[in-house]
Amino acid sequence: MGKTIIAPSLLSADYADLGGALAQIADSGADWVHLDVMDGQFVPNMNFGPKLVEDLRRRSTAFFDVHLMVLTPERIVPAFAAAGADAITFHLEATTHSHRLLQVIRGLGKKAGISIVPSTPAGMLSELLPYTDLVLVMTVNPGFGGQELIPECLEKVRSLADERQRRGLDFLLSVDGGIHAQTAPAAIAAGSNVLVAGSAFFSAPDKGALVRQLRGN
Ligand code: DX5
Ligand code: ZN
Repeated sequence: MGKTIIAPSLLSADYADLGGALAQIADSGADWVHLDVMDGQFVPNMNFGPKLVEDLRRRSTAFFDVHLMVLTPERIVPAFAAAGADAITFHLEATTHSHRLLQVIRGLGKKAGISIVPSTPAGMLSELLPYTDLVLVMTVNPGFGGQELIPECLEKVRSLADERQRRGLDFLLSVDGGIHAQTAPAAIAAGSNVLVAGSAFFSAPDKGALVRQLRGN
């Protein structure tokens, strides 16, 4: 399914210098910018809203992969679309009408993503898979960077990859949480196409080398 997409997460960047962080991501050769949005309700942490995405959009032409860790994401999706997100991913656990929201996001001209936390079985996504462009499997409990990958979550990636093939679907499979040079090979072997990396990226002294290592070349 093509080369592995590397998506550094701004969550671990210096928030006082996000313009600089965008430049570091571009210089590293990474593919996407992953923007985590937290509301202090769905996850026990909070950060920013659409205005920041709008301001960052002016500084970058990179693909903005927005990950909404918020309750009732349907209220805020149109604002993130207008702010310049390229993909908008929300949580299955955060809204009742996921089926509708995926189609709303596509209708706004964006890639539509759905995410599950570690306690949600992959099978819960079954009805939604034909309507999604990206499935983001959380490999840690969301809210904070720098946690350790939960290995069982990669089994869900494996079963989603099998189901994708069986049903002839073409969504991307993304993994988020605890991805670094040591865990990336197992994530890729399980069938992941997108690797999100926050702390591993921003703590790496040579970010270009890390990106190549994560991709496996
Ligand atoms: C976690 C976020 C992640 C986070 C990953 O709640 O969704 O995107 O930035 O951080 P690391 O790569 O440090 O686990
Ligand atoms: Zn994320």
